[in-house]
Amino acid sequence: MIISASTDYREAARRKLPPFLFHYIDGGAYAEYTLKRNVEDLAGIALRQRVLKNMAELDLSTELFGEKLAMPLALAPVGLTGMYARRGEVQAAKAAADKGIPFTLSTVSVCPIEEVAPAISRPMWFQLYVLKDRGFMRNALERAKAAGVTTLVFTVDMPTPGARYRDAHSGMSGPNAALRRVLQAMTHPAWAWDVGLLGKPHDLGNISTYRGNPTGLADYIGWLGANFDPSISWKDLEWIRDFWEGPMVIKGILDPEDAKDAVKFGADGIVVSNHGGRQLDGVLSSARALPAIADAVKGELKILADSGIRTGLDVVRMLALGADGVMLGRAFVYALAAAGGAGVSNLLDLFEKEMRVAMVLTGAKSIAEISRDSLVRELGV
Ligand SMILES: Cc1cc2nc3c(=O)[nH]c(=O)nc-3n(C[C@H](O)[C@H](O)[C@H](O)COP(=O)(O)O)c2cc1C
Repeated sequence: MIISASTDYREAARRKLPPFLFHYIDGGAYAEYTLKRNVEDLAGIALRQRVLKNMAELDLSTELFGEKLAMPLALAPVGLTGMYARRGEVQAAKAAADKGIPFTLSTVSVCPIEEVAPAISRPMWFQLYVLKDRGFMRNALERAKAAGVTTLVFTVDMPTPGARYRDAHSGMSGPNAALRRVLQAMTHPAWAWDVGLLGKPHDLGNISTYRGNPTGLADYIGWLGANFDPSISWKDLEWIRDFWEGPMVIKGILDPEDAKDAVKFGADGIVVSNHGGRQLDGVLSSARALPAIADAVKGELKILADSGIRTGLDVVRMLALGADGVMLGRAFVYALAAAGGAGVSNLLDLFEKEMRVAMVLTGAKSIAEISRDSLVRELGV
């Protein structure tokens, strides 16, 4: 078992949340091999200990897409975050902004763009899916721009949803799902009161604002299922450039050839990601995919990485493998579900402390000094 703050928060989230929500967060696609490897491959990478290098002064800050970040971290887009804590997107975004790092609002958030952006002390990022309803996409881009969103994260690894069998077992989907969800909420009264009742409305805020009528969880599953677009290609992305002049990051790259196409397209960044093992089970973990991608495109655009990051040490590992920054997914969601915005703040403090120890003991005084020399290469990295 991997021991970390996120492991503790995961346990706390498991106790707090109705099972259908916990397993929706915790689960992956099919037999969950990639989900497991994301975590294990990262944890298995040996850091190279160096000593006696006067490491009194450390600088964890960095710059991404013209923004100063206190640490090379951003919170990843996570759908339905407002179901895990009361108005969860606002709570998580505040915690991130107060710590000096970006929050990325998902297309399928509970709180709409217009609720989150004005509540926080720095501009946020916005994630968009490729959906058949291009009218929605245009509308979302215009609203993001109006709300002062700086960076657009375009998720391309969901042209069709992966099969998440856990969701059928847990009551998120499958037979009698609605009834099972109600029963589960009744046996988790703290969540039912704090989030289920006081956290309303539980719309998909961005979509109901566009449609002009409220949406519920059943709509979420139905609308999304009907709207993913398997016909998408690089050519289809070009029209987005007419609607979005700011930095654009392509999320869901796992292959060096696709990374090169992202450079050709003119992307400002990519996220090396397998969607946290939630899409195609059996693909490479991000940690194993990253070095070849960095060899292919490092310096031509910014490389972010996610999937499997559970500790500050993992952040340092991803940077050493070639990332310029990382995104946290489940790690922050578990903390949010367990303890709200204060949980996310605490988790980010712990990540910072863990990164500091890793930097001191690998001899890296700044983010730029973290490199493959920070790893023991003979072990196959
Ligand atoms: C519950 C959940 C919902 C997610 N929703 C989205 C989403 O709406 N858009 C998106 O681009 N990625 C989504 N992701 C993927 C994350 O952005 C990120 O890639 C992933 O969580 C990273 O893996 P990790 O959780 O192991 O750190 C979601 C992940 C989880 C766990």
